[in-house]
Amino acid sequence: MLNIETIRSQFPALASGAIHFDNPGGTQVAQQVIKRIQDYYLHTNANHGGEFHTSHQSDALIDQAREHAATWLNAASPKEIVFGLNMTTLTLHMSRSLAHLLKPGDEIVLTHLDHDANVAPWLLIAKDRECTVKWVDIHPEDCTLDLESLERAVSPRTKIVAVGYASNAVGTINDVKRAAQIAHSVGAVCYVDAVQYVAHGITDVQALDVDFLVCSAYKFFGPHMGILYGKYDLLDRLTAYKVRTSSPLPPDKWETGTPNFEGNVGMLGALDYFEWLADHATGGKSASLSLRERYVTAMTEIGRYEQELSCRLCEGLQTIPGLKIWGITDPARMDQRVATVSFTMDGKDPADIARALDKQGIYAWNGNFYALEVTTTLGIEDKGGLLRIGAVHYNTPAEVDRLLEVLRKV
Ligand SMILES: Cc1ncc(COP(=O)(O)O)c(C=O)c1O
Repeated sequence: MLNIETIRSQFPALASGAIHFDNPGGTQVAQQVIKRIQDYYLHTNANHGGEFHTSHQSDALIDQAREHAATWLNAASPKEIVFGLNMTTLTLHMSRSLAHLLKPGDEIVLTHLDHDANVAPWLLIAKDRECTVKWVDIHPEDCTLDLESLERAVSPRTKIVAVGYASNAVGTINDVKRAAQIAHSVGAVCYVDAVQYVAHGITDVQALDVDFLVCSAYKFFGPHMGILYGKYDLLDRLTAYKVRTSSPLPPDKWETGTPNFEGNVGMLGALDYFEWLADHATGGKSASLSLRERYVTAMTEIGRYEQELSCRLCEGLQTIPGLKIWGITDPARMDQRVATVSFTMDGKDPADIARALDKQGIYAWNGNFYALEVTTTLGIEDKGGLLRIGAVHYNTPAEVDRLLEVLRKV
C-alpha cells in the first residue's frame, strides 16, 4: 500500500499546492534526483576518462547509472543502454543508422497513434531511401491500435516497425510484445517509443523482445535526458555517425560528444526514488529483494494505484454534460490505459479550458502534444485538439475531485 502523503513529501515542488495534471509533458522531480545532481556538481564534476580522482568518480557514477537503468528496463547488459539528450534526438540519430538497412521499395510501418517523434524520423529516412510507408489504423471508438491492420501492413519488404508503448494523447497501452512478434515474423526491426509508459508500469525489454526501446527521464520524475535501449547485436553491427576518435564499441559509439553527466546521474536519482518507493510499499522490508525486484515492486504499486485514479477520473469526467473522453473508459479495462485521460467539451476550445483550470491552480496541457497523427485521425486537429489530464502516482483522489468540481463550472 502506498501512503500518498509520504510519497508526495519526496517531491519538493508539490509543496506549492498546485495541482499537476501536466505530467505527460514532464513530471516533477523526486528529491533523490536533486540530491544526485547537487552531489555531482559539488564532488565529482569532471570529464570522462581522465587519470585523476574526480574523473574516476564521475565515470563510476555513469557506470552505476547505466547498470541501474539496464536493470530497471531488464536489459541483458548495461552495454545495451545509450544515454542522450532526449527521445527525439536519440531516435533521429538511430534512424540515420537504421536507414542503412533500407533499399528503394522497402517498407516502414508506422501507426496513427504515435507521437511525431516516432513518426517523423521514419518518414524522413523513407523519403531519403525511397521507401514506402504503411500505416496502422486506430479504432476511433476507444483509441486502441488495430493490430489486425498491423498484421496486414507488414510484408517481406518491411524493414522497420515503429510503435508506441503508451499514447501520450489518449493513454492507450499497446500490445508491443505482439507488435514485435509481427515485426519479427517478416524479419523487421521493432522500434518502441516507451516515453509515456515507463513511469506507469514494469518495463521488461527481454520479455517484450523489442529491438529498440526509448524513453526520457523527465517523464519519470528525473531530469531532462533520454535513454535508448538497443539489442547489443544491433548496437554493435549498425554504423554509428560518430567522430573517429570516440570508442567504436557500444554504448559509447552511440553517445556523441561530452555527455550530460549531471543529467545521467540525476536519472539515477529517479531510480533511487523507485527503490525508496519499494521500501515504502513493503513497510521497510525491501532490503532482501534484488534491485530488479525492488523496481518491479515499485512499478507494480504505482500501476495499481494509478488504475484506481484512472477509474475515478474517467467515471467523474463522464458525468459532465457535453464532455467526451477520447480513449478507454470501461472500468474493467483500466489496465489497458495509463492515467492520461483526454477529452473535448461541446462548444469549448481546449485552450480556454486549460486557461480556466490554470486560474484555479490546476495545470494541464491542451492541443495535439505532437501526437499529430492522433488528432488528425480523430478529426479534431483543426478544433484545438484535446484537453489532457495526465495523472501520475503522486496525484490524489482529492485532486481529481477538485478538477471535476472546477470543470463542472467551466
Ligand atoms: C510518446 C512520446 N514520445 C516521444 C516524446 C518526445 O520525447 P523527448 O522530449 O524526450 O524527445 C514525447 C514527449 O512528450 C512523448 O510523449
